[in-house]
Amino acid sequence: MKENILVIGSTGFIGSFLRRELQADGASASGSSDSTVLDITDSDSLRRIFEKGNYNTVINCAGMTGVDACERDPLAAFRANALSAGNLSEAAERYSFRLIHISTDYVFDGRKGNYSEADRPSPVNVYGQTKLYGEKMIDLNNSIILRVSTPFGENVSGRKMTFIEFVLQKLMSGQPVDAAIDQITNPTFLPDILEFIKVAIDEDITGLYHLGVVESVSRYSFCMDVARVYGLDQDLVRPVSIDDLGMIAKRPKNTSFNLMRVKGIYKPHGLSEAIEKLRFSTVHP
Ligand SMILES: NC(=O)c1ccc[n+]([C@@H]2O[C@H](COP(=O)([O-])OP(=O)(O)OC[C@H]3O[C@@H](n4cnc5c(N)ncnc54)[C@H](OP(=O)(O)O)[C@@H]3O)[C@@H](O)[C@H]2O)c1
Repeated sequence: MKENILVIGSTGFIGSFLRRELQADGASASGSSDSTVLDITDSDSLRRIFEKGNYNTVINCAGMTGVDACERDPLAAFRANALSAGNLSEAAERYSFRLIHISTDYVFDGRKGNYSEADRPSPVNVYGQTKLYGEKMIDLNNSIILRVSTPFGENVSGRKMTFIEFVLQKLMSGQPVDAAIDQITNPTFLPDILEFIKVAIDEDITGLYHLGVVESVSRYSFCMDVARVYGLDQDLVRPVSIDDLGMIAKRPKNTSFNLMRVKGIYKPHGLSEAIEKLRFSTVHP
């Protein structure tokens, strides 16, 4: 791959994985996106980066991702998730790069499930609203918006514990894990994001795509599968309702994806296969 790629948000969960893998692949993925160096809410900061960089592709993995934090500070969420997307879209036009922007299943209200790219978003919390505003700022003629959900995979940045690491830590120490039976998604495996992006660059694809594993599962089933693959006690996984978890922002329930569109260009992993790959590629607690 001979691309000059900038990964923005490369200190985060998705960005750190993509940056490492793209660099290993020979693409020069140099993501200086510690937010003190590159601030996506500040167009001057972006101009300084793009005037020097000569990038063909910019992958935006940056944003304010704490759903409850967004609810507490909507203005900060708007700046990080929406205003920033407008800045990047303008820069994409001015500096002629392909923008790949990561978005979320939380643009949907979760009443219907099996959402395709043609379904109308209707977010139920500030995080989802600001991500949707961000999407609307992007010109899809020269960009990709990739909606992902409950991303899982190797924790390259190691800055925060991932959902799977949390589950493993609990189960390995014999403690129960409460997992919502009514929160249903197609969790997105990090290597699928990477491979989709490589295909999209090679084939010069643009547009809106949903990406996750092939099955729609509840958080409860997800945890049960993790317990099974790692040989841990499934009885410690307790089914609860998302409404009982006491979170600040409202969560949509069934944001599962219809994957027809993405399957036309890339075949994502199945859930068990993905968890098995993760198990053999990572040292866990
Ligand atoms: N995690 C999920 O459950 C989930 C689900 C669906 C979609 N997504 C989407 O996937 C993308 C990546 O999520 P993630 O979980 O990898 O995020 P993350 O781990 O929270 O990382 C966020 C990244 O954004 C950077 N950032 C924040 N504000 C910035 C600013 N003003 N300028 C430049 N960089 C800034 C952070 O840098 P600093 O550390 O320097 O602040 C960090 O590198 C986001 O668009 C998110 O909405 C995530």
